[in-house]
Amino acid sequence: MLERETPRQELSRKIQEKTARTAVVGLGYVGLPLLIEFARAGFQATGIEKDPEKVDRIRRADSYIPDVDAPLLAELVASKRVQATLDESALADCDAVSICVPTPLRKTRDPDLSFVVAAAEAMAPHMRPGMLVILESTTYPGTTEEVILPALEGTGLRAGKDFFLCFSPERVDPGNASFTTRNIPKVIGGVTPACTEVGSLFYQQVMERVVPVSSTRVAEMVKLLENTFRMINIGLANEMALMCNQMNINVWEVIDAAATKPFGFMPFYPGPGLGGHCIPVDPLYLSWKTKQAGHQARFIDLAAEINGAMPRYVVQKVQQALNDRSMAVKGSRIHIVGVAYKRDVSDVRESPALDVIGLLEGMGAVVSYSDPLVPRLQFESRVLEAVPIEDAAAADCVVLITDHSSVDYKALVDRAPLILDTRNRLRDYSAPHILRL
Ligand SMILES: NC(=O)c1ccc[n+]([C@@H]2O[C@H](COP(=O)([O-])OP(=O)(O)OC[C@H]3O[C@@H](n4cnc5c(N)ncnc54)[C@H](O)[C@@H]3O)[C@@H](O)[C@H]2O)c1
Repeated sequence: MLERETPRQELSRKIQEKTARTAVVGLGYVGLPLLIEFARAGFQATGIEKDPEKVDRIRRADSYIPDVDAPLLAELVASKRVQATLDESALADCDAVSICVPTPLRKTRDPDLSFVVAAAEAMAPHMRPGMLVILESTTYPGTTEEVILPALEGTGLRAGKDFFLCFSPERVDPGNASFTTRNIPKVIGGVTPACTEVGSLFYQQVMERVVPVSSTRVAEMVKLLENTFRMINIGLANEMALMCNQMNINVWEVIDAAATKPFGFMPFYPGPGLGGHCIPVDPLYLSWKTKQAGHQARFIDLAAEINGAMPRYVVQKVQQALNDRSMAVKGSRIHIVGVAYKRDVSDVRESPALDVIGLLEGMGAVVSYSDPLVPRLQFESRVLEAVPIEDAAAADCVVLITDHSSVDYKALVDRAPLILDTRNRLRDYSAPHILRL
């Protein structure tokens, strides 16, 4: 008589045969590209998303994430390999579920895990033996074991035996054409060795390289190390900019020359402040968690302070530049070029442009902006509309915050009367009306 497969054997077989039905909960910058990769690898892929507009757009094969190729999405939707739904009960039919919901900060700057908790609660009623659940959202070490595990084991099923639970940090870099969801090595750690093995087996079907680690806590900490490393080094570059400014040294030239050292140095650049959903936010998850254990994350606190002061420094530079031309900020027309948090993306979350606009308006400036990727900008309780970049010619001062590739910088240099370049994008131009951070 044939022995019945264990849940692990059954799931592993389905994964290898590509008959496992996959799902992604949360179809944003991280979730939609992941869903597409599951489908491209040959799996049936269902996206569960609570925003009806996103579900509708996927059904119409209308990609809202620049990194997701519209013709590919159309092909996968037409063949029904990719589906999207608002209905959480679709989870009941799935074998492998990746959770990609937001992990923002509360107003108090503490972690807001409400989306992760809601996703775990949505999963619980649909759990059955032979399921794999992988949390992808960036969070503090311990979240998978402390938040997801109890919710799923509350069903009476046991992790490592009946179902498999892992954490795998999402390392995607929106707008990066060389490194994408598929070819960025995928770190994964499970709550038990069996969980790590099953989770690794699944991601080996989808990603070019999988890096198993010994626990979910290690996997959670890997992501926080990476983003904390970036945040602190950007903080150092920003402090270098402040010091160089005092000593009348071109910080960009210093960094570029230092970067010629073939070992032991990696260039980071100053800028108008940190932006995006990750670098300004994730290290605060770590500092919050370590504070619970009585340890103060001093590097993180210091870098947050330095980076957080950069928008004010940019505004001081504008004020000084106008003052040198016998003008005040009050009443001046100031044009911001680029409001997305970084080059070639449309994402404005935590963008330093928002702080710079707020500070300038607070001082009485008349602010306009242009951004080829952000036609409208939700700013406090108003919606600002982008103006054509040609309008920069009529401004008293232009502040280049985000250096999108598609902007005609030569025309900007030719037309604008005064430019503060916070990204060194105008490095090839030297003229008295161009100032650098
Ligand atoms: N954006 C990045 O560059 C990036 C990179 C690496 C890691 N991350 C991390 O990945 C996670 C997701 O980030 P993102 O940028 O994709 O966020 P996002 O806001 O673009 O997308 C999250 C999506 O989840 C949906 N959602 C929330 N709760 C839900 C629920 N219970 N059920 C179904 N859908 C739900 C939201 O409507 C939204 O569409 C975060 O933890 C973030 O820190 C983001």
